[in-house]
Formats: sequence, structure tokens, C-alpha cells
Amino acid sequence: MNYARIAGTGSYLPKRIVSNTELMQWVDTSDEWIVERTGIRQRHLAAPDETTCDLAEHAARHALAAAGCTAEELDLIILGTTTPDRIYPSTACLLQARLGNHGAPAFDVQAVCSGFVYALSIANQFIRAGSAKKALVVGAEIYSRILNWNDRNTCVLFGDGAGAVVLEASDQPGILSTHLHADGSYHDMLTTPGTVAQGRLINGSGFTEMQGGDVFKFAVNALSQVVDEALQANQLSPESIDWLVPHQANIRIIKATAKKLKLPLEQVIITVPEHGNTSAASVPLALDIGIRDGRIQRGQTVLLEAIGGGFTWGSVLLTY
Ligand code: ACO
Repeated sequence: MNYARIAGTGSYLPKRIVSNTELMQWVDTSDEWIVERTGIRQRHLAAPDETTCDLAEHAARHALAAAGCTAEELDLIILGTTTPDRIYPSTACLLQARLGNHGAPAFDVQAVCSGFVYALSIANQFIRAGSAKKALVVGAEIYSRILNWNDRNTCVLFGDGAGAVVLEASDQPGILSTHLHADGSYHDMLTTPGTVAQGRLINGSGFTEMQGGDVFKFAVNALSQVVDEALQANQLSPESIDWLVPHQANIRIIKATAKKLKLPLEQVIITVPEHGNTSAASVPLALDIGIRDGRIQRGQTVLLEAIGGGFTWGSVLLTY
């Protein structure tokens, strides 16, 4: 069996940390409100001259070093982002040039906060089909660039960052199953509606608009279903899961999914208090942190899940 196995992970956070208290200078909010409703205490924000590719490059280099792999060896590069450096070329191609890889297919995936889970699932298919042997999969965002910093409903929730994984073909079990979904009929519930479709310049708002309460309800439901789906596909009981690495949008959504799995919070990698919601970067960032601090060990069963605008949602069940 040709599994796709995680060979190494990496992540990167911009240096600037913005606390909830600092946000009170910009919008009418409070530390108590943000912590109680979301669990978020702070977020990292990119410097004005930093780009998504800068963040991705740091995370990718850490992942390559952890995997003992050179950029030349990569035969696939996939990057999940909602905040690409340019309309084109893809940020994956920009990253490929920075890393010095020539010739491997490189492309971006746009599934908002599910971007990394989508990208990892695609890379898994390439490796299982024998079309790639070593793949770099990145989630990177400067989400702060598509936030209206006068809108307290959204600006307190997000942060910037990047995470990366090197996958390699292996006889040893790695990714066991992936489960992707989308329902575009919800496209207006969570959206950044700016468009290049009309006129010469970008038209419309370039800022995130969200119906928070409805997103919350949909997220809890969809994640509960996708977690069941992953367990059933592998004929596993909830007790078989060693670690849940959830999308880090809101501590209350994370707790609902952990409860569904009957997992104590000690078996959930939680970074939302320190990072906020870093969109496509949130799952690989949390995964890298859980691996580097020694909580996630080789041979353990790990469930990744995410939900984002679209709606898009999905999970990846793997043996680390
Ligand atoms: N500070 C203070 N008050 C605020 C703030 C704030 N930052 N933001 C909103 N409010 C106010 C609103 O104006 C509203 O006031 P009103 O009732 O006077 O109109 C009130 O708080 C809303 O309160 P609730 O409805 O009780 O808020 P709720 O418990 O639903 O929490 C939240 C709001 C945190 C946005 C929640 O709905 C949520 O987390 N939703 C999911 C959001 C999310 O995760 N999005 C991204 C997921 S997908 C992806 O990652 C792309």
C-alpha cells in the first residue's frame, strides 16, 4: 500500500502580537467579551511589508528541515490561501521560486479556512496514485488584509500565520482517509465579496462579511457530521482518536466537536487563545505545535478537521 505519511511539519507566526486590550483602541469591544465568546486572547499580525509568501516560506523551510528533505526533491507543491500575494501567479508558484524548486506542479487551493485540509487531501490522492513521492502542503494567510478594522463583529476573530507539512510516499500507514464537502448555497453567510468580474479594478468590498450566529450553528453541525464520517469510514470508535487538531475559529465550536468525540480537552490541540483564527493556516499551525512540543507522537491517530467560507468543510484521519 502506498500511503502518504507526514515526514515533517513547520510553522511561522509574524512577530507582532496584538492583545484584545489593544483592539479596544480601534473598536468598541472588551477582553471579557472576546474571551467569553471565542476564547481568543491575542493574535499575530503581519508587518505591512510582509506577504503571504514570506510567511509560507518560513513555515515551508521549517517543514523541509524537519523532514530532512531538500526543495529539489519535492514533486508537488500545494498551498491553501484566501489571501494570495497576487491574483496570479499562484502563491504556490511564488513559493516554489523562493525555495528553488523547478518543474514540480505547484498550485493554490481556495477553500478559505478548509484550504489546508483540502490541499492535504489532494496531495494524498497524488501520492496514493503514484503521481508524487514528496509533496509540500502549506496553509498560509495574511487574513488581517481582508478585515474591516472598524467592524467589531469580524476584526477581533482573525490572525495571520502559516503552517506546512512535507508528505512522502511510504509503506507505513500515514493518511488513512480524507473527507471533503462543500455547499455553495451558503456563499453569502461568510464572504469577502470584492470581484474582478466587472470593470477594470477590483469592485465591491474587499473585507470579510459574516453572519456570525448562523456560521456558528452550521459549523457545529457540519463538523459533528464530518467527524462521524471519518470514524465510520475507518470503523473506529471515538476512543481510538489520540488527538484532535481542529480548525481554530472559536473555543466553543472546538469544545462541541471534542464533546461529540467524547475526547477530553487534554487530547485537543488548542491554539485559538494565542493565534485567533488564521484561516487556512490554523490546522497546520496547531499540528506543528502539537508535534514540536512532543504531545503528538509517532504511531498515534490524529484527526484534523476544518470549516470555512463556501461553505467548505472536511477532515483528514491519519497515523502520525
Ligand atoms: N465586542 C463586543 N460586542 C460585540 C463584538 C465585539 N467584538 N462583536 C459583536 N458584538 C455584539 C454584537 O454587536 C451583538 O450586539 P447586539 O445584540 O446589541 O446587536 C452581540 O455582540 C452579538 O452577541 P451574540 O449573538 O450573543 O454573539 P455570539 O455568541 O453569537 O458570538 C461570534 C458572536 C463570536 C461571532 C460567534 O457567533 C461565532 O464565533 N461565530 C462563528 C464565527 C466564525 O467562527 N467564523 C469563521 C468560521 S469559518 C472560517 O474560519 C472562515
